[in-house]
Amino acid sequence: MHIIDGKATSIAIQNELKIAVDDRIKQGLKRPHLAAIIVGENPASRAYVGHKIKACEYAGFESTLVELPQETSDEALKAEVTKLNNNSSIDGFIVQLPLPDHIDAQAILECVEPTKDVDGFHPVNAGKLSLGLPCFAPATPSGIVELLKRYGIETEGKHAVILGRSAIVGTPMTLLLSRNANPGNCTVTMCHSRTQNLADITRSADILIAAIGKAHFVTPDMIKPGAVIIDVGINRIEDASRKSGSRLTGDVAMHLIDDQWGGHITPVPGGVGPMTIAMLLKNTLEAAGK
Ligand code: GUN
Repeated sequence: MHIIDGKATSIAIQNELKIAVDDRIKQGLKRPHLAAIIVGENPASRAYVGHKIKACEYAGFESTLVELPQETSDEALKAEVTKLNNNSSIDGFIVQLPLPDHIDAQAILECVEPTKDVDGFHPVNAGKLSLGLPCFAPATPSGIVELLKRYGIETEGKHAVILGRSAIVGTPMTLLLSRNANPGNCTVTMCHSRTQNLADITRSADILIAAIGKAHFVTPDMIKPGAVIIDVGINRIEDASRKSGSRLTGDVAMHLIDDQWGGHITPVPGGVGPMTIAMLLKNTLEAAGK
C-alpha cells in the first residue's frame, strides 16, 4: 500500500508560496491577504478556519478573521461580505460553510465578488470552471489534482469514479478530471445516493474519489487491485481509546485494506484536508497578483 502524504505535500506547497511571497515583498508588493467569515460556534468549522489562519502565518500571508454570532441575520452577513468586497487590502475571502440553517447560504455566496472568491463557490467561477475558462477552482478538488500530479499518477484514459455530487467536491472534481489537461483526460463516472450497482462501478475505478461523508463506506471488496483511492471524508466516530472519546476517520475503511494491497491511498487525517488549505492559499496569491 502506498500512502499519498497530503500533509507533507501541503507543507511543500506552503514553502513554495512563502518563497513567492518573499519575492513579492522584494518587488515592493504587498503580502497576499486572506479573510474568512465564520458564523456561529460549530467546533469543526472553527478548527478548519483556525488551520487556514495558521497556514497564512506560515506562508507569510496576512489574514483577517471575521467572527459573527450564531444568530446573525442574512442582512448582517451580507453587509460583512460587502465590506470585504469593498476592502482593497483584502485579496480574497471565504465564508466558512456550513452556515446556520436560518441563513440562505447560496444567496450569501452569490454576494461574494467573483474576483475575490478564492473558494470558487460563486456561480461565475463555477460556470467558468464548467466551460474550461480560467477561474478560481474549489480548493478540495484542486488539491486532489495537485496530489495526483505530484505523485506522478497517470490519469489519461483512466476511469475515475467519484462518489458524491456536491458543489464543493463531487461536481468540480468531475469537471477537473474530465478536462483535456494533465492531470485530466479521465473517463469520469459520478455516483450518488441513487446510483445502482455501486460496487460494480467502484470496482472498475482506476481512481476512486470518496466524498460522501459516511465513515468507512468504501470497503475492500469495492476496490480494484492497484487503484488510487482518494478519501475526502472527514467523519467523527466514537473511539473509547482516545481521551476525547472520538476521532476523525474517512469514507474509506482503510483499516480493512490489506497492507500488501498494491494501490495508492490518502489517509484521514493527513491526506486531502491539508491540501485544501494549501490550494486556498494558492488561489489567494493568484488573487493578489491580479
Ligand atoms: N466547508 C467545508 N469545506 C469548505 C471549504 O472548502 N470552504 C468553505 N468556505 N467552507 C467549507
